[in-house]
Amino acid sequence: MIVEGSGVVVTGGGAGIGRALARRLAAGGARVVVNDLDAGAATAVAGEIGGYAVPGDVATEQGVRDLIAAARGQLGEIDIYCSNAGTAAGQGPDTPEETWQQAWEVNVMAHVRASRELLPGWLRRGHGCFVVTASAAGLLTMLGAAPYSVTKHAAEAYAEWLAATYGHRGLTVHCICPQGVRTSMLAASGRAGEIALKEAAIEPEQVGDALWDGLADGRFLILPHPQVHGYYGMRAGDTDRWLRGMNRMQQRIEEEASR
Ligand SMILES: NC(=O)c1ccc[n+]([C@@H]2O[C@H](COP(=O)([O-])OP(=O)(O)OC[C@H]3O[C@@H](n4cnc5c(N)ncnc54)[C@H](O)[C@@H]3O)[C@@H](O)[C@H]2O)c1
Repeated sequence: MIVEGSGVVVTGGGAGIGRALARRLAAGGARVVVNDLDAGAATAVAGEIGGYAVPGDVATEQGVRDLIAAARGQLGEIDIYCSNAGTAAGQGPDTPEETWQQAWEVNVMAHVRASRELLPGWLRRGHGCFVVTASAAGLLTMLGAAPYSVTKHAAEAYAEWLAATYGHRGLTVHCICPQGVRTSMLAASGRAGEIALKEAAIEPEQVGDALWDGLADGRFLILPHPQVHGYYGMRAGDTDRWLRGMNRMQQRIEEEASR
């Protein structure tokens, strides 16, 4: 993928991983539209990287449509679309229905809706690049976060489906699956996040570099934490052993919480 001169959209680009992706791609010569719910944050990042701010909510069909129309107005063609915005709200099955629904809208339907808008043009041109920020929770699981784990599995599944269906027609799909990354989302992940993720947490810039490498070699799964590859293999190869290990970690979290 040639990034220099390409037209890029990054959703949730006002902070955290999205900001790092926007910065990395702009540093590589891309023209970047920065989307975020937080208009001030989108404007600040766009100003810093010489890009364009398009604030808006990608949790709705109209929000995604408006973003892509505005981005086309700034960029002409969109070459790379980074569907990055996400929400980690909710814990277990007792999470309110509207929180489950919000996770579904942002973590899954935002990708479906964006691809619906972009695919016709990309298939006509014979090229396009769709980047989904899923999570290692989409390959494994995230203790204490059922809506997040379930919807990130769905995000990864949708990215796989796109790649399998349109690869021969010029679509490149990348699925970024980090474990802990030092952003406000990780800071809000509570005790489970702390125990499971903080020790191996990386900086958002490392995710930007991992995307850069993944774009260069065209690989689908982008794993900024290389150990995730091993865990993913273990889960597939001996699911019961993997589940026992995860449950031991859950027991540790419960023991620490009761102290
Ligand atoms: N931080 C981690 O440990 C981690 C690990 C794996 C995957 N991820 C994923 O990375 C992505 C980015 O997370 P982050 O850690 O940078 O979070 P963050 O909270 O630091 O930043 C997310 C940004 O997205 C914006 N946003 C949220 N909902 C939006 C919406 N509906 N429309 C437009 N913008 C919206 C927020 O305003 C915020 O600026 C998410 O999809 C998240 O699930 C994060």
